[in-house]
Amino acid sequence: MAKLIVENGGPLYGEVQISGAKNAVLPLMAATLLTEEKCVIDGVPDLADVKVMKGMLENFGATVVDDGNGLLEITASQIRTVNGDRKLVTEMRASTVAMGPLLARCGKVVMPLPGGCAIGKRPIDLHLKGFRALGATVIEDDENEQVIVTAGPKGLVGDAIYLDFPSVGATENILMASTMAAGTTIIENAAKEPEIVDLANQLNKMGAKIKGAGTDTIRVTGVERMGGSIHSVIPDRIETGTFMLAAAITRGEILVKNALPGHVRPIIAKLKECGVEVETVDDGIYVNARDKELIATNIKTLPYPGFPTDIQSPFMAFLTTVKGKSEVKETVFENRFMHVNELNRMGADITIENRIAYIPGGKTLHGAKVRATDLRAGAAMVLAGLAAEGKTEVSEIYHIERGYEKFVEKFTGLGALLTRVDED
Ligand code: EPZ
Repeated sequence: MAKLIVENGGPLYGEVQISGAKNAVLPLMAATLLTEEKCVIDGVPDLADVKVMKGMLENFGATVVDDGNGLLEITASQIRTVNGDRKLVTEMRASTVAMGPLLARCGKVVMPLPGGCAIGKRPIDLHLKGFRALGATVIEDDENEQVIVTAGPKGLVGDAIYLDFPSVGATENILMASTMAAGTTIIENAAKEPEIVDLANQLNKMGAKIKGAGTDTIRVTGVERMGGSIHSVIPDRIETGTFMLAAAITRGEILVKNALPGHVRPIIAKLKECGVEVETVDDGIYVNARDKELIATNIKTLPYPGFPTDIQSPFMAFLTTVKGKSEVKETVFENRFMHVNELNRMGADITIENRIAYIPGGKTLHGAKVRATDLRAGAAMVLAGLAAEGKTEVSEIYHIERGYEKFVEKFTGLGALLTRVDED
């Protein structure tokens, strides 16, 4: 297993280009199962998760042509099975987003259950609630750890669905399932993330009739069939936030290019509260923390447009180095503080009570052997290592490589002392 050796090379300077969004491209790829026509997706990041989704689509019978430069041509002319591949689903839980399109296209899907992970149980009860509302029967086959979803005799029928929590995955799955359902489907308390809007835009290009994506009420008028599309992936707002924090934690100056300020407003606001200079410029976001008197602030993660849970750990790493006490409250996932122990190994002295992390701040972190406990926590540990005294070794970096394209190259391009080595 590989690891990253991180050293403090001082402030990071320069500019970095943001790649296509991991959490947008995965549902965009799954949506191609809705049609037998060719779908073209551009701006696709070169990620392990994209490779897994490619494998999932091929397992269902699609052909995926990759031009090696971020452009995919996906044609699901025949669906040869509606059974998800257990190994691939276990590798990447987001594969479950193939359920909605398969149910819409074939009237049935059998999906292994991905199970929990470091940050939480990750149930799919809201996805299944949505499918049931569309008239499907759902068998939760716990013995074989899978769900079997079958549309009614007349196919899926539109209805109103209230999501108890604005789940991103459930909104995506129900949105795709409802595209060809008879009548109208209304998703209430829907997730409003930019990735939902990006998916709805591609679905509408394919012939769907979706209104209200990006708001908490999405209305879908079912259509007879879906066609091909050509679509470019939105930039990755979480990668954007990660590099904004790289400038902040190293007290450097970075121009984050191809970033959409409108997708990272809470991160801009919070960094400004800490005294970091953040400006929206023509081709991105300029972040300057050089020679700034920084102060602490509190963070509370919320569904979009609130502060993103995926930036909670990178922001916490930054807060450990800022003078003053701060509190970080995680409201989206029930167990997303696994990185606290790792930061404490570097001298952060964080304590946790009732899903709130208390950060004393003003620390000079020291290098240590730490591990990436999830994708974003891995990035957070690298950020901490860039600000720490001495050498930090981050292991289990496969998490990071799942979700950040050219991670090492982008950081070394900014002057970071970062090397990837195979674990002894
Ligand atoms: C998506 O996960 C993202 N992943 C996550 O990013 C992100 O953290 C999350 O949305 C929240 O923004 C992808 O898009 C591939 P949810 P998802 O369903 O869809 C509960 C990363 O690092 N819930 O909005 O799984 C759930 O337990 C990853 O890139 C139910 O209770 O998130 C959690 O507490 C990590 N029942 C909360 O909702 C359900 O049926 C948010 O989950 C579904 C979810």
